[in-house]
Amino acid sequence: MENIIWDPAWNIGHAEIDKQHQKWVEIFNRLRNAVLSESDEKPDEVQRTTLKEMLEYTHYHFDSEEKLMKETNYSEAHGHWRLHKEFDKTVYEKYRGLEGNALILNSDLLSLMKNWLLGHIQTEDQKFGQYLSSLSI
Ligand SMILES: [Fe+2]
Ligand SMILES: [Fe+2]
Repeated sequence: MENIIWDPAWNIGHAEIDKQHQKWVEIFNRLRNAVLSESDEKPDEVQRTTLKEMLEYTHYHFDSEEKLMKETNYSEAHGHWRLHKEFDKTVYEKYRGLEGNALILNSDLLSLMKNWLLGHIQTEDQKFGQYLSSLSI
């Protein structure tokens, strides 16, 4: 699996949210490198700390997006919020698994995250971006 290279077509047109998505991708790439790298001396530790970082950044990003939805009275906010929660739960469960050494991150999990991330940004977040730009017309 390749690193994700940010495609400007994925921007939703809101500077702060776009910046956060790019940061998210950067963390994902580091996680991918930590999982797939064989040269690392302490891969488990790097995986654990990077996954924790992703979890924390995910919370921060979802909070920002949800707050903006509330402020702008976005009618699909509830459904969007539920999608965020599902992803958060998936990642959190993996993190807990790693804490107990019950699970080693693997490329299946990375694919799941990558697909979710890119799929969500390109569909649901794009919809919200379109809504935001309709407000400023
Ligand atoms: Fe997002
Ligand atoms: Fe979102």
